[in-house]
Amino acid sequence: MIVAIDGPAGSGKSTIARLVACELGFSYLDTGAMYRAVAWRALEEQLDLSSPLPEESTKRIREIAQTERIDFGFADGEPLPSKVFIDGKDVTEQIRTPECDRAVSPVSADPGVRTALIQQQKRFGMEHNAVLEGRDIGTVVFPDAECKVFLTASSRERARRRALQNAAKAGRDTATDAEVEAIHNDILRRDEYDSTREVSPLTPAADSYLLDSTDMAIDEVVAVIVELARERQRQSQQVGKTSKSAAEQVSKTSKSARPASRRQNKSEAKPASRR
Ligand code: DC
Repeated sequence: MIVAIDGPAGSGKSTIARLVACELGFSYLDTGAMYRAVAWRALEEQLDLSSPLPEESTKRIREIAQTERIDFGFADGEPLPSKVFIDGKDVTEQIRTPECDRAVSPVSADPGVRTALIQQQKRFGMEHNAVLEGRDIGTVVFPDAECKVFLTASSRERARRRALQNAAKAGRDTATDAEVEAIHNDILRRDEYDSTREVSPLTPAADSYLLDSTDMAIDEVVAVIVELARERQRQSQQVGKTSKSAAEQVSKTSKSARPASRRQNKSEAKPASRR
């Protein structure tokens, strides 16, 4: 089963998606970290990432996305992976810098980069019961995900949360107004970029559950999504049982069941590991 959590920058997807995955006992994939890892490599190689992307840079970032291995690793004692590696190098900290925040927008807007990374994301989702978080999981990567959530919050609240997170990393328990303001401006810029780009713009899937977390505590948001996922899981098990018993009825009452080729096609539609 796939739980797809999409939403804008700073909506709390990572925190929420991890807690949901823990609660459900599912694997977890932070797809934004994959785009960030490619952007980090581009920065390391000092590629020109100005807009429009020069041809040389485009060619190279596609090559990186297609050929360099992106892995996730576990920090001591953590139940879910939080470390990010590209080509064997640990870039967990480096991909979260403001420089990487800026570089990732043009990199993630490139169709060639997206195709390469989406392929890996699909493979991951087919091999595990998983929570995947990003911008296009419910619309492009897994349009048939059983449970889709579009998580949002006001841009001010998202900026406030991000600023507090940064302050905590620096050992402080408050953020200044200037810090919140700078992050707010960056969030507005990324919202605009993510939702107006040509390929996979950030937009809720028509069948996603819209969750505005502006006035909600983390626990409440997690509880809502876990309940939704369990309900969807029960529904799909019910559908599975119903169609199984209908199939048994058909095979008991009729020797002329549907041709094998058609039955085979149907079971191929969803890989066994996701059922
Ligand atoms: O979620 P994040 O801030 O770590 O994402 C980093 C960037 O990658 C962000 O600019 C949007 C982009 N992204 C994307 O285009 N598609 C995804 N599935 C995930 C992230």
